[in-house]
Amino acid sequence: MFFSEIKVSYSNGEYPVRMYKDFHGLRLELEKISNVSRFIIISERSISQTYNKYIESELKGYSVPIDQIFIKGGEKNKHISRMKRVFNELIDLGADRKSVIIALGGGVVGDYSGFIAATYQRGIRFIQIPTTLLSCVDSSVGGKVAVNVDKGKNMVGAFHQPELVYIPMFALSTLPEREWSCGLAEMLKHSLLAGGEMWQDFKSHERKDIKVDSEILRKMILDSIRFKASVVAQDEKEGGIRQILNLGHTTAHAIESLTRYKKYSHGEAVAIGLITALILSNKIGFSIDKVETVTRIMEKYNLPINDNSKPSDIIKHMQHDKKKVGNDLKFVLLEDVGKPKFAVTVSSKEILSALKEQRKF
Ligand code: GLY
Repeated sequence: MFFSEIKVSYSNGEYPVRMYKDFHGLRLELEKISNVSRFIIISERSISQTYNKYIESELKGYSVPIDQIFIKGGEKNKHISRMKRVFNELIDLGADRKSVIIALGGGVVGDYSGFIAATYQRGIRFIQIPTTLLSCVDSSVGGKVAVNVDKGKNMVGAFHQPELVYIPMFALSTLPEREWSCGLAEMLKHSLLAGGEMWQDFKSHERKDIKVDSEILRKMILDSIRFKASVVAQDEKEGGIRQILNLGHTTAHAIESLTRYKKYSHGEAVAIGLITALILSNKIGFSIDKVETVTRIMEKYNLPINDNSKPSDIIKHMQHDKKKVGNDLKFVLLEDVGKPKFAVTVSSKEILSALKEQRKF
């Protein structure tokens, strides 16, 4: 039995995000998907080694063939040049339009496999099985799939919604602390956007309360997904309100590319970017006292609040942002917690001063 279910609606229908304790339930879920010729699990070898025994015992004797394709993990391998081999393997396996891809892993596996699913034979179905906190609360939900090219991250992609998101909660028990920080940063972003109880939960808890078996973790994950689903339902293709989900991301992407994706995980870069966005938000009414509150919360959850790169270098890297329109930099800012505004024009001068201000926190 699953703990909980959230429905994600989009232009062409809806799909469930179901939170399970483990892999008991996967067989039943796969049986619900009609007209399948074969399943192909795309995963990293190490992830597959960790979960294979559970998946194999759950799916033993299953009537539909199940194959595996391995990809290399890490953002640098989520590259368009690595897709050719996977397409060829799919053809060798006899994958057709009724085949269904299962993305088993974190954000990189989900983005990559999702884009393979979006493009193989002009699009086949896929399922997300996120195994990291970040992929549970963010990347597995909402259908954004993409790969990197030499000149930019996620520059080639699609909106391709999964058939199902299956969360095996026990997978989180193997996560290193840095992966927790990564997911918590995106959850904090959702709580700043949503305000209310989600924000209170972040303020009133400590890192030590957030345990795999805890009720509060399940609640925070589900609230985060529910919030994201509500935004996606209003604006699947990011023409408007979905842009709020990019809070903190302009600075985050700049810092990640400036530090060549080596110094920070995505979530850590988002945490730093959130602070920049909140300082900038002061011009539309966000109080500097609240920025301090957020920095204290970040410290509680082991998140960085600052990067020591030269502000002018960070700004240079912001110029590559794909959300940039013309020469203006558009930011998501907050009037207050729970009151986001997207596409606010911000000048380089304002960013420079915010980045300098950030050093004081
Ligand atoms: N991660 C932001 C979005 O899915 O829109």
